[in-house]
Amino acid sequence: MLLHIPQVLSKQEVAALRSELAAHDWVDGGRSSGAQAAALKHNLQFSAESPAFAGLSQSIAGALQRHPLFVSAVLPRHMLPPMFNRYSGGGRYGNHVDNALQRDRFSGLQVRTDVSTTVFLSEPDEYEGGELIVEDTYGEHEVKLAAGDAIVYPATSLHRVEPVTSGARIASFLWTQSWVRDAWQRKLLFELDMNILKLRAQLGDSQEVLGLTSTYHNLLRQWSE
Ligand code: NI
Repeated sequence: MLLHIPQVLSKQEVAALRSELAAHDWVDGGRSSGAQAAALKHNLQFSAESPAFAGLSQSIAGALQRHPLFVSAVLPRHMLPPMFNRYSGGGRYGNHVDNALQRDRFSGLQVRTDVSTTVFLSEPDEYEGGELIVEDTYGEHEVKLAAGDAIVYPATSLHRVEPVTSGARIASFLWTQSWVRDAWQRKLLFELDMNILKLRAQLGDSQEVLGLTSTYHNLLRQWSE
C-alpha cells in the first residue's frame, strides 16, 4: 500500500527546516551506502555528523508521530532517525531495495526496515524530474508531492528517484519497524481502522462500532510483534 499523508509539516515548518538545512554541510550521499547502492546513488545528504542533525531529524519524526494517518498506516515500533537528501544537476538514485536491517545511530538499536517514508521539502514546481517511482504488484507508481506532504510504502518495494534535470529536490526520508511486519496485514488493519472512524462519526459508539473496535484491537494483538 502506498499512502499519501498530507500536511505532515505546515508551509512555515517547511520554510524553517529549509533555511536550517541550507546553513549546514551536505556530503556525497554515496558515502553512506553499501558499494552496490553507491554506484546507483547520485545525490547529497545532510551530514549526520552536523550538530544540527539531531534536532532537524527529531522535528520530522515528531511531526509524523503526531499524524494520525501515519500512526494508523505504519503502526510504528521503532523509527530510524529521519535523514535529508538533495538531488540536483541530473542527480538520481537507480532502482534498488533498501537494506533490511539498519542501526539507529543514536540508540545503537538494530531496526528492521518495514516501511519507507519520504517527506517532500521542495514544492513540485521548484524542480524538473525527481519523481519517486515505487514498483509493486500493481505496476509502477510515480510520486511527486507538495512540500510538507509524505508518502509511505512497504520497504520491500523496488524504487528509484528519477534524474533531477533542473532546480533542486530536497526531501527527508526514513525507515520504520512496524508492530506488524506484513504489509498486507498492515493494510487490512489500516482499512478497518479508517472504516471504524467513519462509522463512529455516523453512528456514535453503537454496539456494532464497539464490536468492530474490539475486533481491530484483537487483530492487532494477534499480529503485533
Ligand atoms: Ni531507497
